[in-house]
Amino acid sequence: MKSKLLVGVLGATLFGASMSTPVYADKAEDAIKYRQGVFTAFRWHFGAMGAMVRGKVDYDAEQFAHHATQLAALTRMPKEGFIEGSDFGDTAAKAELWENLDDVNARFDKLISDADALLAVSGGSLGDVRPAFGAVAKNCKGCHDNYKEE
Ligand code: HEC
Repeated sequence: MKSKLLVGVLGATLFGASMSTPVYADKAEDAIKYRQGVFTAFRWHFGAMGAMVRGKVDYDAEQFAHHATQLAALTRMPKEGFIEGSDFGDTAAKAELWENLDDVNARFDKLISDADALLAVSGGSLGDVRPAFGAVAKNCKGCHDNYKEE
């Protein structure tokens, strides 16, 4: 009994694995807050790197590498927040997102690999990190244009 319950709970938190699992309202609300919180943390690190890339702040390789490290870790996180039943309420996720979960999933995987590539070159010169940062930025914009309300 206990292990069955545990499997159910774990299953419900896995992206795409929750199709037949009913989700109670509080949990949907928590999932929305969770993913928005992760994205807010994205902005913190992504924004700090962006300011250096755009020359608004002096480039500091060590600081940049710190933000690249944190962002790479964070990119693993939002996917699991898009659980079944969290498609309405205080969310900016478009209806199209829920109809294209395979594409959304693939986009998160691409973001992870591009963030890892950025991390791999971080510590180098601004010229080294700029293209890799641009590649990461494309993921943000691409997904938002398709699946996020303004
Ligand atoms: C695969 C899709 C996808 C990718 C990639 C993605 N986002 Fe998002 N983002 C979303 C969706 C969907 C929302 C709306 C979430 C909600 O409101 O439920 C969102 C919301 C946000 C928000 C608003 C958070 C809030 O509620 O205040 C920020 C900031 C953000 N994303 C930053 C980023 C940055 C920076 C990147 C790239 C490093 C990124 N996102 C990559 C899909 C994506």
